[in-house]
Amino acid sequence: MTLALDRTESLTCHDVPAVVGADLQVPLVNGEQIGYANLDHAASAPCLAAVRDAIDEFLPYYASVHRGAGFASQVSTKVYERTREVLRRFVDARQSDTVIFTRNTTDSFNLLARSLPKHTSVVVFDTEHHAALLPWKGPNVRRIRTPRTRLEAVSAVDSALAECPAGPRLVVLTGASNVTGELLPVKEIAAVARKHGARIALDAAQLAPHRRVSVRDLDVDYVALSGHKLYAPFGAGALIGRADWLRAAEPYLAGGGATKVVTESAVVWNSGPERHEAGSPNTVGVYALGVACEKLAQSWDDVAAHEADLLDRLHRGLAAVPGLSELRLFDAAVDRVSTVSFALDGFTPGWLAAVLSAEYGIGVRDGAFCAHVATKRLLREAGSGAGQAVRVSLGLGTTTEHVDRLVLALRQIVARGARWTYAEQDGRWAPVDDPRELPSFLR
Ligand SMILES: Cc1ncc(COP(=O)(O)O)c(C=O)c1O
Repeated sequence: MTLALDRTESLTCHDVPAVVGADLQVPLVNGEQIGYANLDHAASAPCLAAVRDAIDEFLPYYASVHRGAGFASQVSTKVYERTREVLRRFVDARQSDTVIFTRNTTDSFNLLARSLPKHTSVVVFDTEHHAALLPWKGPNVRRIRTPRTRLEAVSAVDSALAECPAGPRLVVLTGASNVTGELLPVKEIAAVARKHGARIALDAAQLAPHRRVSVRDLDVDYVALSGHKLYAPFGAGALIGRADWLRAAEPYLAGGGATKVVTESAVVWNSGPERHEAGSPNTVGVYALGVACEKLAQSWDDVAAHEADLLDRLHRGLAAVPGLSELRLFDAAVDRVSTVSFALDGFTPGWLAAVLSAEYGIGVRDGAFCAHVATKRLLREAGSGAGQAVRVSLGLGTTTEHVDRLVLALRQIVARGARWTYAEQDGRWAPVDDPRELPSFLR
């Protein structure tokens, strides 16, 4: 099979940071090789080349942090502690905010959930990613249905907060939906939250890789984010925000590093961010996260223009695919990041994703994207009973050729189906007798 596309590099006119793997070749089931079209940035973004280079430079100095007297330990400690300031700047946090390193957004929200004062009321849209939906427990958690306009979303939070009992209140909200890419009215909801004396926790997992986030401008209290979605896939994330609840909470993990003094009968815990960072920290991951944040912060205009062009191209292409319905919480005019989920009439999402991979070298995500309520509801509203969708997410590693290849592939599949046989096994679709070999380091 020959794709009617230019397989060589396709250029975009914006000067965006380079990613590792931009030249990756992957096998097709017909024996050919093709440049990998990674259209799954929203799940995990590729590593920035600048991050890889910085880690290479740092690794000879990598050593224990906080506890070592050696020179390399001091360098490592400096790298780790300095990155708190980098993160604070990246999200334009208040000087008094604490920066706690975690594994990812899920970890950050679980930490925050454990740190809430007793009887805190929590208001959260039911369409949130499970990481933002599930950590809150108890009778004071109110899950509200996401309305169909941003304006109604603001008043839905207003009403929910008005019904909360007296006491501390928290609204948990994503900046950008991981299903539809649409931006939520964070600033407006934060203003309503203030009126009710509530705090706001922003899930920036999908927003921060695409847009500048300002804690001060949005007037939010906490921000959670993940390094692997921010082009720094080394296992670190962060929770940034008001220190008081976190300082008063039981340590997230009990162990070394979180303590000031331990005696035979007592323990005095640290009151700073270390309180919740027991155990040897992920210094490499933290450094990678900081470098990625610094690099993105230097490039926002180009990043935004690059992604807006690609998203526009994708939308125009998908509009010409018969039977395709894009999932949306709000109307089409709402600002969004470069993530699009859709259903395609008559095609199973898992099967489609397998064909795109095996015959076109394209990586997309299929399923309900850890936002089951949102995905299933939007699919029902789009007239699809499948319960699953395909998600295409663009980012710094995406080229116009990737987008064009996807659109052409979908049109070809709709017109004439697949050229290989596929079977479902353990819930995943895959080519039957898949001839594609794994890379040699896995063989
Ligand atoms: C909006 C949103 N929030 C939270 C998460 C959880 O992120 P992580 O898996 O890095 O903890 C994701 C991951 O896809 C997400 O898209």
